[in-house]
Amino acid sequence: MTQHLLEVKGLSKWYGQDKNRHQILKDLDFEIDRGSFVVIMGKSGSGKTTLLNILGLLDNFDSGSYVFDGQDVAKMGENQRCLFRNSNIGFIFQQFYLIESLTVAQNIELPLLYHGGYTSSQRIDRVKKSLQDVELEDKFSSYPNELSGGQQQRISIARALVNESNLILADEPTGALDWRTGLKIVEILAKLNREDKTIIMVTHDGDLKKYATHCVFLKDGVFTEEEGL
Ligand SMILES: Nc1ncnc2c1ncn2[C@@H]1O[C@H](COP(=O)(O)OP(=O)(O)OP(=O)(O)O)[C@@H](O)[C@H]1O
Ligand SMILES: [Mg+2]
Repeated sequence: MTQHLLEVKGLSKWYGQDKNRHQILKDLDFEIDRGSFVVIMGKSGSGKTTLLNILGLLDNFDSGSYVFDGQDVAKMGENQRCLFRNSNIGFIFQQFYLIESLTVAQNIELPLLYHGGYTSSQRIDRVKKSLQDVELEDKFSSYPNELSGGQQQRISIARALVNESNLILADEPTGALDWRTGLKIVEILAKLNREDKTIIMVTHDGDLKKYATHCVFLKDGVFTEEEGL
């Protein structure tokens, strides 16, 4: 097992056609170590979500290489990629994307159903464990619209944890929350990081840098040292 969970070399991404074709990510080289908490900052439109979606195998890249836990992502077929994503990566978004017609437990259970192979009691055990991790065991049978925004985001964290993925990708997880509630969310992520999860979080909030083991700024498709926000 190498120290690097992710290894990216010469990664580039373009969007658009012909004269509207723009390079969004330019020849990025970096590694992300197991157990790190990486914060990505940068102006709106700088490519943060694009990068996170590529790292999360939700989007393709145009050139370069991406090796995840020793596996070359470019060589995976579509099915293999979905399976790999489902087993290895948990996502948290600014909008929590909970399904309103399902209970909290059913929402959290979804990645296990997509994965397949778990018995009903195994699924319930995993859901309960994830709910404990976000300290919302008592919301098992509630519906999302009975919860506050912060609680909904904690449920979406529980859903990201349920497959016991090593990597959590969070795209502005505090963006829809007030400052204090957002802080609670990041403190949960920091706790998970201390328990060995690797976290990559995009944020506009410079105060959250203090939780990071590494902080990078994206500007014009490349990483810069300076903030320039
Ligand atoms: N599907 C797409 N098709 C064409 N252009 C796109 C697409 N998705 C993103 N872009 C462009 O790529 C650039 C980077 O977008 P991205 O969403 O990654 O930015 P961001 O840094 O996450 O911004 P924000 O902070 O506002 O979320 C933008 O100029 C955007 O318009
Ligand atoms: Mg974005």
